[in-house]
Amino acid sequence: MTFPATRLRRLRTTPAIRDMVRETRVTAHDLIMPVFAPAAPDTNQPLPQIHGMRLLSGAPLAAEAREIQALGIPAVLVFGMPHKTARNDAASAAHAADGPIQDAVRTLKRAAPGLTVITDLCLCEFTDHGHCGLLRGDRIDNDATLACLQRAAVSHAEAGADVIAPSGMMDGVVRSLRQALDDAGHTHVLTMPYSAKFASGFYGPFKSATDSIPGESRHATHQLDPANADQALHEIELDIGEGADIIMVKPALPSLDILRAARERFPAPLAAYQVSGVYNMLWQAAEGEDRHRLMSEILTCIKRAGADMIVTYYAKQAASR
Ligand code: PBG
Ligand code: ZN
Repeated sequence: MTFPATRLRRLRTTPAIRDMVRETRVTAHDLIMPVFAPAAPDTNQPLPQIHGMRLLSGAPLAAEAREIQALGIPAVLVFGMPHKTARNDAASAAHAADGPIQDAVRTLKRAAPGLTVITDLCLCEFTDHGHCGLLRGDRIDNDATLACLQRAAVSHAEAGADVIAPSGMMDGVVRSLRQALDDAGHTHVLTMPYSAKFASGFYGPFKSATDSIPGESRHATHQLDPANADQALHEIELDIGEGADIIMVKPALPSLDILRAARERFPAPLAAYQVSGVYNMLWQAAEGEDRHRLMSEILTCIKRAGADMIVTYYAKQAASR
């Protein structure tokens, strides 16, 4: 027998063989496209902080919904961009029936009824101070924030949202939302918490785009310390216990270990968020085909790590290949 008997290079001999043995494929069906909804009618404006993203409402948003659906992308994640003047310390615009998220949900559902509409649920875009929760003194008051989030979630569901995605890492948020949604008759609406969300510098472009940078950040008082993997898994476990339907890990690329561990430990569907800072970094690293290769490679690695679905600003471009 010649040495060695096992030559794995044989599996890489031709494109067809490589195709046969490929373990991971990212398709349009794995992707979730973010949408930024302003509080203004029929808007179509660039959002310069995140490459290629736009502020969309009304007819341009309806066109975007149809385009996303035609590409085979199953879902969008909606962010609201209220007017500065609508922000206050009670975040009351977060649960207004005619708020930017609620309006966008109705537009999206009318334009593309089959598209799954996920709403980001946080208060940072709606408070005048930019923190993710209501303040009492200099602290974020967890339980007062939950009550506000309950009202906001019900208003999203009433507008027609299919999935509510609380992103503020408040303790007990999944149970409190489940309760509020069920009490209001929305037992069919899913929750998709950002279960393991790390306090990351990679949210910079998003924070700047949504103008929600608090003077003095208290993110470290609710978001996970990036040094903590066991605590991240504990957060996920709690969310599943509280009734979460889909769990999310963010930021995706710096958390591949968490994705792998969550995949092995929990049976729940697992989402990963390829965040703005990582997206911009990859965008700037190359152009044309090289850029596409970088983006595709990272999305493949996120799926390989264990993600069932990926939120990415690159969703449309990835799906149009
Ligand atoms: C909170 C929220 C943030 C992101 C998504 N939802 C900002 C934060 O938690 O500080 C970040 C997304 C990104 O950077 O792409 N509403
Ligand atoms: Zn927030």
